[in-house]
Amino acid sequence: MIDSKTKVVGVIGKPIGHSMSPVMHNAAFSRLGLDYVYLAFEVSDLGGAIGGMRALGVRGFNVTIPYKVDVLRYLDEVDAVARMIGAVNTVVNDDGVLRGYNTDCSGAVDALISKVKLKGCKVAVIGAGGAGRAVAFGVAEKGAHVLVVNRTLVRGEELVSSVNGFYPGVAECGTMEGLKDASVVVNTTPVGMVPDVGATPVLNKFLRKSHVVMDIVYNPIETRFLRDARSLGCVTISGVEMFVGQGAKSFELFCGKKAPRDVMRDAVVGLLGK
Ligand code: ATR
Repeated sequence: MIDSKTKVVGVIGKPIGHSMSPVMHNAAFSRLGLDYVYLAFEVSDLGGAIGGMRALGVRGFNVTIPYKVDVLRYLDEVDAVARMIGAVNTVVNDDGVLRGYNTDCSGAVDALISKVKLKGCKVAVIGAGGAGRAVAFGVAEKGAHVLVVNRTLVRGEELVSSVNGFYPGVAECGTMEGLKDASVVVNTTPVGMVPDVGATPVLNKFLRKSHVVMDIVYNPIETRFLRDARSLGCVTISGVEMFVGQGAKSFELFCGKKAPRDVMRDAVVGLLGK
């Protein structure tokens, strides 16, 4: 029951109406019998919202589009990985001290390492936005080479130079032709997300049967990109895995308990399947 002791967590973003995070986190709190509630807040005034979180003693919150970068300037501390990536998706409030983390990065890496050994392999990262940065730094940290393929070349080059600043010589920019030398291909663009389910970020002709293919788009659960790859015989990883992975790490930061990942995945898949 929600009462005066219930701890509040949530997600801020704009728009937020389609967020799956409340259902995923509340299912986990309920399963573990924890006295927390997770809410979604559509926010136009980021600074005001964060001041309010501090004033109300909200335990923590996730941050989504378009605030993952802007939120950094309002925080008291930012952990090393999030600072390197330049984006925060999780904030924990410890008695008024706001600390930022990036769980997109570990969410993506955990999803990948469940299917492939990253050390020494070449990972093609399609896109160079916040999610692309999280994936590129995450796989570089695991010893992979990174090929960034982005629509806007200068943005791709910026990501390559910041990855190489931390992991010298590991990253390069390229085109779709370069995918033939990669063993893993990760889409980090929104291409293929509902309602544009017929779109794909990578044409079929650039895919190889040997590729392990992951999409960060999780709605639909199987994007056209993943369907094409599966038809070719590729190993595929749904965006649901990264979404649940980042959510599970955030959950653990909020409440210090091991996240029930299967419960969280079932809640998301149940919602998406409808
Ligand atoms: P996020 O923080 O969620 O990653 P973002 O910062 O807006 O979102 O970045 C989205 C990424 O998807 C960018 O790399 C963008 O390419 P540009 O740098 O050229 O803008 C890429 N992207 C978005 N729509 C795309 C499309 N229709 N085709 C190809 N790339 C696209």
